[in-house]
Amino acid sequence: GAREDLRGERVLITAGPTREPIDPVRFLSNAATGTQGIALAAEALARGAAVDLVLGPTTASPPPGAHVVRVTTAREMDAAVRELAGGATIAIATAAVADWRPAVTHDQKVKKTEEVTAIALERNPDILAGLGARRDGALFLVGFAAETSDFETHAREKLAGKHLDLIAVNDVGGTRGFGDVDNALVVLWGTDGRRDLGSGSKRELAARLWDAILERKRAQADA
Ligand code: C5P
Repeated sequence: GAREDLRGERVLITAGPTREPIDPVRFLSNAATGTQGIALAAEALARGAAVDLVLGPTTASPPPGAHVVRVTTAREMDAAVRELAGGATIAIATAAVADWRPAVTHDQKVKKTEEVTAIALERNPDILAGLGARRDGALFLVGFAAETSDFETHAREKLAGKHLDLIAVNDVGGTRGFGDVDNALVVLWGTDGRRDLGSGSKRELAARLWDAILERKRAQADA
């Protein structure tokens, strides 16, 4: 790439959905495709970073040059992140992690003649909150928030509650958000820091988000 402003950084990115098995052929999941996280990884590589990409089940292709760790469940994603976090200078959580998993995974396919009226659920670990709880000043931590209402208020709660340096908010009401479509992002930091990154393709927004991350990271280092 022309700009090498991420050289020397080791970036850890989570992307995609997770899949939580009910039985060997059924699962709980969501509509995420990992596209925004993959675009952030591609942009980071183009700008000279080393990239660890922890990627849930998706048909979207990771960029060549990334170190990709494929995972299925939230707990597998959490384990991969714990292993890689120590070497990272910047971590970005874009994954749409399933908040719950079935309390029981059946070894055999559940037959439709069985009388199933409910699936008991357990909470999954919050991977990003765990990173925030264990972090030190050497890691710059970025989260995402997909909101449909009061989006800046909720995102500021996540910024503080998960101990993040920056949060990128997208309004997933309407047509934006999931898949290979345009996105729109606002970034928030501190008590009142805010920048509207506008709308565009996920790759264009990835470039603007990296600019914002680098600016904030340098401002913190100078403070
Ligand atoms: O609290 P909420 O799920 O809205 O927070 C979204 C942010 O937290 C995203 O960055 C997402 O990747 C991360 N997250 C996570 N593990 C979870 C839930 C969310 O890393 N179990």
